[in-house]
Amino acid sequence: MTRKLLLKNAAELVTCRGTGPKTGAAMADIGIVTDGALWVEDGIIRRVGTTAEVLAGLDASDAEVVDAAGCCVLPGFVDPHTHFLFAGHREEEFSWRLRGDTYMQIMERGGGIVNTVRATRQASPEELTDIGWQRLSSMLSFGVTTVEGKSGYGLDAATECKQLAVMAQLNREHVVEVAPTFMGAHAVPPEYKGRTDEYVEYLLHEVLPRVAADGSAEFCDVFCEKGVFTVDQSRRLLREAQQLGLKAKVHADEIVSFGGAELAAEVGAVSAEHLLHASDEGIRRMAEAGVIAVLLPATAFCLREPYARARTMIDAGVPVALATDFNPGSCFSESIPLVIALAALYMQMTPAEIVTALTINAAAAIDRADRIGSLEVGKQADFIVLSHPSHLYLPYHAGVNCVETVVKHGRVVHDKNLI
Ligand code: NIG
Ligand code: FE
Repeated sequence: MTRKLLLKNAAELVTCRGTGPKTGAAMADIGIVTDGALWVEDGIIRRVGTTAEVLAGLDASDAEVVDAAGCCVLPGFVDPHTHFLFAGHREEEFSWRLRGDTYMQIMERGGGIVNTVRATRQASPEELTDIGWQRLSSMLSFGVTTVEGKSGYGLDAATECKQLAVMAQLNREHVVEVAPTFMGAHAVPPEYKGRTDEYVEYLLHEVLPRVAADGSAEFCDVFCEKGVFTVDQSRRLLREAQQLGLKAKVHADEIVSFGGAELAAEVGAVSAEHLLHASDEGIRRMAEAGVIAVLLPATAFCLREPYARARTMIDAGVPVALATDFNPGSCFSESIPLVIALAALYMQMTPAEIVTALTINAAAAIDRADRIGSLEVGKQADFIVLSHPSHLYLPYHAGVNCVETVVKHGRVVHDKNLI
């Protein structure tokens, strides 16, 4: 029997129509339908329009009904950059940063990512699954229906594969979809300290082929940063990953201006991420190559660094997406409301651009814009209902979660009033 769902009476239905990624003025065109409705069959949107249009000639007698009177409805948020699967925490490092230590100083004296690597190597797959499950559930409550997750807390073949296998399991069992990224080049593990070139060889010859063979990652990301992996090392890794069928992503220009944006353009990466210190030339080349900028304002906030130049990027024609960067070090926060508030108040992004950046452009940043990220006929029915009548409330109700109901694949999977 067909599973049917009717969403009706939405004060504002924000469709975000378009296959994405959107650039320039198109980022502000979010396709609002007043008094909007959706008709969904077996999880796929079959009708979109005003409530009157959608109901015309429709037999909705055996459908589940979501009445969104007085509420704004949007595509489910996509969080296209996270490191959500890790064991242990680094609250002490955060307190040191409050006292003035920098992220890199802590990393250089043996803390940082390798601290989390130690804990993640020790955690069993079952423990990691439980941790991941809880985190995905928290993200879901913020309206996130699809999330990208990076490995990179193993830094050896066994643990990298363990992280990716747990993400695959979570993807199968949790309602939130997980897009897996291999990030073996996240840091140099202690056993390779001072021998970064040798670690890169190990990744190239022993880890990447194994990850590619078991098909557990869709993307490959590299922390291309001064004191971590050079542009040349990053290029080799990304090129090899592409040869093996993975799509490239780059942690680019996060701490210093390092040529990461330029590298992303050169290799044809799907996205370059962070970009706090991206150069003008890097931005120009990203626009030319169609590389999506995944910007992470909550990380800049937590590191007390200047925000990425979103306005410059949008005006230069770079498609911009937003993400949380949820991780135990630079940004221990999965808060979408925080990202929205910072993007509006400190990055000169308009509310409409922010919506695009968290939906269709975020979906494009994980190569899923053909299936999710907008509310259009033929797309998956992933949507959220806000407690307010317009998307303008998202930054206005600063830092507060306005998501009432979440629908994934045509099923109500979260309802604030029922928990
Ligand atoms: O995106 N920069 C590298 N990776 C993360 C931080 C990971 C960590 O500190 O555990 C980031 O900021
Ligand atoms: Fe990151």
